[in-house]
Amino acid sequence: EPGLAGHAARSGRVFGTAVRSPDLTWNATLRGEVLREAGLLVPEYEMKWDILAKTPGTYDFTGGDRLASFAEAHRLGLRGHTLVWHLALPPWLPGTLDAGEARRVMEAHVAAVAAHYAGRVQSWDVVNEAVDPQGPDGLRASLWQRALGADYIPLAFAAAARADPKAKLYYNEYDLECDTPDQDVRRAKTLEILTRLRREGVPVHGLGIQAHLQAGRWPYDAGKFARFLAAVAALDLDLLITEMDVSDRLLPASEARRDATVAALAGDVLTTFLTEPRAVGVVTWGLSDRQTWLNDLPTHRRTDGLPQRALPLDRDGGRKPLWTAMARAF
Ligand code: XIL
Repeated sequence: EPGLAGHAARSGRVFGTAVRSPDLTWNATLRGEVLREAGLLVPEYEMKWDILAKTPGTYDFTGGDRLASFAEAHRLGLRGHTLVWHLALPPWLPGTLDAGEARRVMEAHVAAVAAHYAGRVQSWDVVNEAVDPQGPDGLRASLWQRALGADYIPLAFAAAARADPKAKLYYNEYDLECDTPDQDVRRAKTLEILTRLRREGVPVHGLGIQAHLQAGRWPYDAGKFARFLAAVAALDLDLLITEMDVSDRLLPASEARRDATVAALAGDVLTTFLTEPRAVGVVTWGLSDRQTWLNDLPTHRRTDGLPQRALPLDRDGGRKPLWTAMARAF
């Protein structure tokens, strides 16, 4: 039985996972699971600004480099995550910058990191989570948006393209799969951002759909999601699911019930996604339930304290119904 990467390859797609490089280095179990299932890696946090630049102007690429070396040694792809985001900013970065400072600081960061990983990272999440349906002009109010308005987005992509002309450059967003009025706005705003990049001739190659699915919380409308994917593909862009997991926070305690509901939801969303020819692959935010971020936050962890069953492998690395649903969807 091939791993998920083997199933994905049958339809010419990739399957990958986020990893925390210390675990990868020291945890033989995780290494075995990654080598059995994945064809692509992305750092869960080793390439985020606050980890890379602990003091102003200095960069410590050790963690990301460790991951890049592991990927190269095992002929795995590598994604970079993420260059410009409102979170994971270093504490020494001011909370407010004027337009000139913001542009200089942002472009210098993008240039330093994208240049360092040029030739080792095949694609980047250049800008992450810029949309807020309730925000100014549909954008999330952030250090970058307050200083530069919507312009920070093309500026970030142009800086990344200058530093690494070969990397595929992605805009990455969440909740694009949910059928709610707010997410109708989110999808429209995301399309507007991508259309502007295209119209202005700014290099962009794909949309990252995080797909942090929440079983039992939102409605999902396959037709609406398919139409959105087609509209993005019509911009001559690739589509990648970048951070899939399925929160079972709202489901009853029974593991069998949770596994079945989680697998059904993921199967439905992936079947719709993989019907789109421009869909290039699926990345999960972790492989086994030992490592899901969903247990770390009060807003995501289950109220009964049971560990989430959100990823394809269980805590012992066994393949769950979610794994089967993903293998079948490919
Ligand atoms: C999360 C990590 O999984 C956590 O360990 C960290 O504490 C916070 O960031 N969207 C993203 C990811 O783009 O970078 C986030 O990762 C999850 C939400």
